[in-house]
Amino acid sequence: MITRRSVLKAIPLTAAALVYGREEWAFAAGEVSIPQLQLRNGVMMPRLGFGTYALRDEVCTESVADAIVAGYRLIDTATVYLNEEAVGAGIKRSGIDRKKLFVTSKVWVDDSGYERAKRAFQTSLDKLQLEYLDLYLIHRPRGDVKGSWRAMQELNAEGKIRAIGVSNFNPAQLASLTEGATTLPVINQVETHPFFQEKAEFASLKTVGVSMEAWAPFAEGRGGMFTNPVLQRIATKHGKTVAQVILRWHYQRGVVAIPRSSNPEHRRENLRIFDFTLDGDDVSRIAALDQHKSEFPEWT
Ligand SMILES: NC(=O)c1ccc[n+]([C@@H]2O[C@H](COP(=O)([O-])OP(=O)(O)OC[C@H]3O[C@@H](n4cnc5c(N)ncnc54)[C@H](OP(=O)(O)O)[C@@H]3O)[C@@H](O)[C@H]2O)c1
Repeated sequence: MITRRSVLKAIPLTAAALVYGREEWAFAAGEVSIPQLQLRNGVMMPRLGFGTYALRDEVCTESVADAIVAGYRLIDTATVYLNEEAVGAGIKRSGIDRKKLFVTSKVWVDDSGYERAKRAFQTSLDKLQLEYLDLYLIHRPRGDVKGSWRAMQELNAEGKIRAIGVSNFNPAQLASLTEGATTLPVINQVETHPFFQEKAEFASLKTVGVSMEAWAPFAEGRGGMFTNPVLQRIATKHGKTVAQVILRWHYQRGVVAIPRSSNPEHRRENLRIFDFTLDGDDVSRIAALDQHKSEFPEWT
């Protein structure tokens, strides 16, 4: 009889992983497959993805294509990253069936409001050479966000976006946006990492059924993240790298992380987090690293 345990024994962890929320196993064409999170509207989202901020032109296209070949299925971009064309070219170059991907983009502040958001969405689709998006987010809580949300609700109802959400919203901004809304956000993409854990924000999102996604899951290495002695000791204990410990911590918290890397080895390293577990002691030590403040004050 084929059981989960026998499958685990027979197949290296790099080749199989459980899809949560559905009792089945997923086998990706690449080197790894990634557990999924069920969003409030039922859409399944990979719990680990690939970020593309600051990746441009050929570096972006090649990084996205290679990330997909390596096993990433969630690709995160935004209008303001000015790389949607390069991301779209990377998707095409990977040769993957588009339906197997989960593509996110975001409407920028300058495009807020009903009409502008609709136009911006179509421009993003055209640049990405896609027929629909899996997730579309309001990038920042500025401008006419209620107008943007009305546009996004319609696009969602028309099937052009599978799920809609927000980014960088605090609980009060989220409550204001959803007052009178017909569709509630599935996710809030926020800065969170071991130095800025946002525990209260996470708890507050849980109470309203909104999932949390981590941008800058490594804080871009700021604050000495990759050389932190506590993280280094935990990494040594598990025979893993600091990056893998951080991503495993996000995963065990139930937060979707979207690390970015222009380095093919780092991209693969960052996928290999499903074959070890942080224990209670590790989790308490990482909890103590919280400095309760952003590593990106210039962005707030
Ligand atoms: N919604 C928002 O407002 C918002 C804001 C910022 C970012 N984001 C999204 O979140 C994604 C991730 O955030 P981010 O790109 O700012 O930063 P990040 O993922 O926290 O850090 C990226 C940095 O980590 C390094 N790195 C990656 N893997 C590594 C490894 N295994 N070992 C050592 N170094 C490693 C990369 O260098 P190498 O390239 O050399 O590997 C790069 O310098 C973005 O790309 C974007 O999609 C959203």
